[in-house]
Amino acid sequence: MRPRSKDSLHCGPVKLPELAAKWGTPLYVYSADAILARFRMFARAFADQPHLVCYSVKANSSLAILKLLADQGAGFDIVSGGELERVLAVKKAAAARVVFSGVGKTAPELDLALRSGIRIFNVESEGELELLAERAAKQRRKARFALRVNPDVFAETHPYISTGLSAHKFGIAISEARALYARARGMRWLEASGVSVHIGSQIREAGPFGAAAERVAALAAELEQDGDHLRSLDLGGGLGIEYDEGTSWDPEARVLEYATTLRGSLGSLGGRLELLLEPGRFLVAQAGALLTEVLYTKQNGAKRFVITDAGMNDLIRPSLYGAHHAIEPVAAPRREQKTAVVDVVGPVCESGDFFARDRELAAVEAGDLLAILDAGAYGMSLASNYNTRPRPAEVMIEGKKARLVRKRESIADLLKMERV
Ligand code: LLP
Repeated sequence: MRPRSKDSLHCGPVKLPELAAKWGTPLYVYSADAILARFRMFARAFADQPHLVCYSVKANSSLAILKLLADQGAGFDIVSGGELERVLAVKKAAAARVVFSGVGKTAPELDLALRSGIRIFNVESEGELELLAERAAKQRRKARFALRVNPDVFAETHPYISTGLSAHKFGIAISEARALYARARGMRWLEASGVSVHIGSQIREAGPFGAAAERVAALAAELEQDGDHLRSLDLGGGLGIEYDEGTSWDPEARVLEYATTLRGSLGSLGGRLELLLEPGRFLVAQAGALLTEVLYTKQNGAKRFVITDAGMNDLIRPSLYGAHHAIEPVAAPRREQKTAVVDVVGPVCESGDFFARDRELAAVEAGDLLAILDAGAYGMSLASNYNTRPRPAEVMIEGKKARLVRKRESIADLLKMERV
């Protein structure tokens, strides 16, 4: 989404200002080609071992994106009945490629997943294992499960999105897992078919993934000795990207290093068991941008503000995690255009409603368009209606064609659920 022609930013042959003119702002724009390129990169990196890439739906649950990936044979990592309904809405047969994670699965969600014939449940507590056994018995259907273990591995990332330490709510302590698998052997409708782990998100080095994989492999070997017939190891998602425009990096090299590290850590198990991988951000973040129009610029004392029509409700990452997103004016810089150090902020009534602070940006005026880059992951999927703001529309670009894949919400949409 970064290429620039002489007059504006574009995505393939499609110019971003034309999209804003047609569908308004704020507007999420996704490149199907960019998503597919990342998906294929992942597939190439793991080509020499049995694997299934299960796209993590929470990163961006747009039906158009799910359909795009389902058609490529992707599997899906889901964390709710709602996400499962999304997968079923685009391709019923994809249920067989669904892995169900999450610490708080409810009985109706387990029932739906069992009925749909999903591939595997990643179980996160003893209580959940018991409930799954009970629901499976009711339906007289075998439930394949993996325990999601907490490997107590530290990975450098934002504390809100780190999950692999014993202080986190996720998974079952790896030291207790073997005993729980032993208990499950006595439960008629359960079948232990794997082990799973996920240590966090936006992790940019391979080391912690390797350390977690090693611990999982050691446990899997013990379970096989104990008599379980495992089919898969789920190594979660979390492979990070570079948001900072100043950092040069090669996504293909990163995913190759990731694959090589995992292979090294798994030893002979890696070639025998199917690897389930759950990338979210790596596949979609850089395929998306949030287009927004500058409403006002103003100076408050020493500070200069650029106020946009997108707010923290549309893209919460900067406010919630202090995340950096590159921001570029969509129009090509006018000759001798000055730059200014500004805060780019939204209209929401919170001082935390910002996209960038003290950022040097080409001087822009009311009416100009900005593109907030790398917004394809955890952008729209975390959007809310705070301040009674309708959520943005979404557009997908495939080759030369752009199409609306989600209408902009209207105020009427927001009010219709309520009664006075
Ligand atoms: N698998 C599991 C079990 C997960 O919990 C997650 C993400 C993933 C896979 C996908 O991780 P990814 O490959 O996208 O890093 N809202 C935050 C990220 C939250 C991640 C939650 N779990 C953000 O905007 O940075």
